[in-house]
Amino acid sequence: MGCPFPKLGERLQLCASFVRSGVRLCDVGTDHGYLPIFLAKQGKILYAVASDIRSGPLQNAQENLSRYHVSDLVETRISDGILKIGEDEADDFVIAGMGGELIMKILSQKSWVKNPQKHWILQPMSKAFELRAFLFENGFFTQQEKAVIDDKKVYSVMLVSYAPEKISRHPGDLYIGQICADSEAGKAYYQKELEDLAKRRNGAMISHKKADEERYAAEILAIQKLENL
Ligand SMILES: C[S@@+](CC[C@H](N)C(=O)[O-])C[C@H]1O[C@@H](n2cnc3c(N)ncnc32)[C@H](O)[C@@H]1O
Repeated sequence: MGCPFPKLGERLQLCASFVRSGVRLCDVGTDHGYLPIFLAKQGKILYAVASDIRSGPLQNAQENLSRYHVSDLVETRISDGILKIGEDEADDFVIAGMGGELIMKILSQKSWVKNPQKHWILQPMSKAFELRAFLFENGFFTQQEKAVIDDKKVYSVMLVSYAPEKISRHPGDLYIGQICADSEAGKAYYQKELEDLAKRRNGAMISHKKADEERYAAEILAIQKLENL
């Protein structure tokens, strides 16, 4: 007998844990469809749209939906980002496993992204710094952010919604967001960012860019302070 649940890796498990109970979900760039299947099998979501820009992954997802008997709860749809998703179709949106630039592009596709009731669960594979800057500039408040280690790599998962009045900034926030260094994954995330900043600072030193060198040094200090809180 097959497993009643698809087994999610740590990264997608963390994304799934940020989804509210009893909501309608849209999993943007679903690929295999495991995230909505997992949540539907748990009874955590009412309904889901599993969308992808390509038909190949969606065929795969449809086969998985039948295998796990949740085709009535999860609908597949071809869509570039949220272009084919209606505002009233979902409460929580997961955009995982994509580059930060693509996530920003998707968040710019519809004005209703700024509906404060909507929750956006974002897991960038790159450019987390740029994504956080975009979120601040556009009034998105990070309700939760955690690091996770999956297959020996460390990732950030953030839960954001539109609430400009709640935003408060702190030094180093573009690098580590709201992640705390109180777990193995959190510590690994700080380490990764500090190593990256040290490389940038050394690069600035070698090319005699004093202002950049000082800025990176100040960011390193700010992050080290947070790390030791
Ligand atoms: C690496 S997979 C990630 C799958 C899953 N979300 C995860 O995190 O494991 C990226 C998926 O996003 C889809 N994708 C790429 N660009 C997209 C876009 N603009 N809109 C929707 N899906 C997209 C790809 O076809 C692919 O299936």
